[in-house]
Amino acid sequence: MNLNDNYRWATGKIKKKIKDSHSLISTLANSTAILKESFPGYFWVGFYFVKEDHLSLGPFQGPPACARIDLDKGVCADCAKEKKSIIVLNVHEYPGHVACDSRSNSEIVIPVFNRSGELMAVLDIDSEKYDDFSDIDQKHLEEIAELLKPVWD
Ligand code: SME
Repeated sequence: MNLNDNYRWATGKIKKKIKDSHSLISTLANSTAILKESFPGYFWVGFYFVKEDHLSLGPFQGPPACARIDLDKGVCADCAKEKKSIIVLNVHEYPGHVACDSRSNSEIVIPVFNRSGELMAVLDIDSEKYDDFSDIDQKHLEEIAELLKPVWD
């Protein structure tokens, strides 16, 4: 399977979980599990909930991570402030990068909105490989974020 096929498989599984959604937390937790299972190369997959002045760790798969991230620095904070996806090919060159785990070398962060267009969370994926994310990942992950809109109702 290539990257697009993997994402199609993962998106189908996530779509089903959203359709049968029991709660916000279980659906987000299953979504991270599906992504982690579909892409064994992903080192960490998780959501941060957007709070007034910080980000708060939500459901994730992977090693323990920072529980709270202030909005003044880091890739997740910049994504939340700009409300746009960010791809970082080398996290060590990103000013203000928050290193929750030193093994992470590249990452992608996607904003997650509710149906009213409010930013509710960011989806963060980290890889041990450099240059591991491209616009193909961004396209598919933004599609998954779009599918997740109703889970905040
Ligand atoms: N690297 C992120 C922090 C989250 S962890 O990688 C799980 C950042 O710079 O915001």
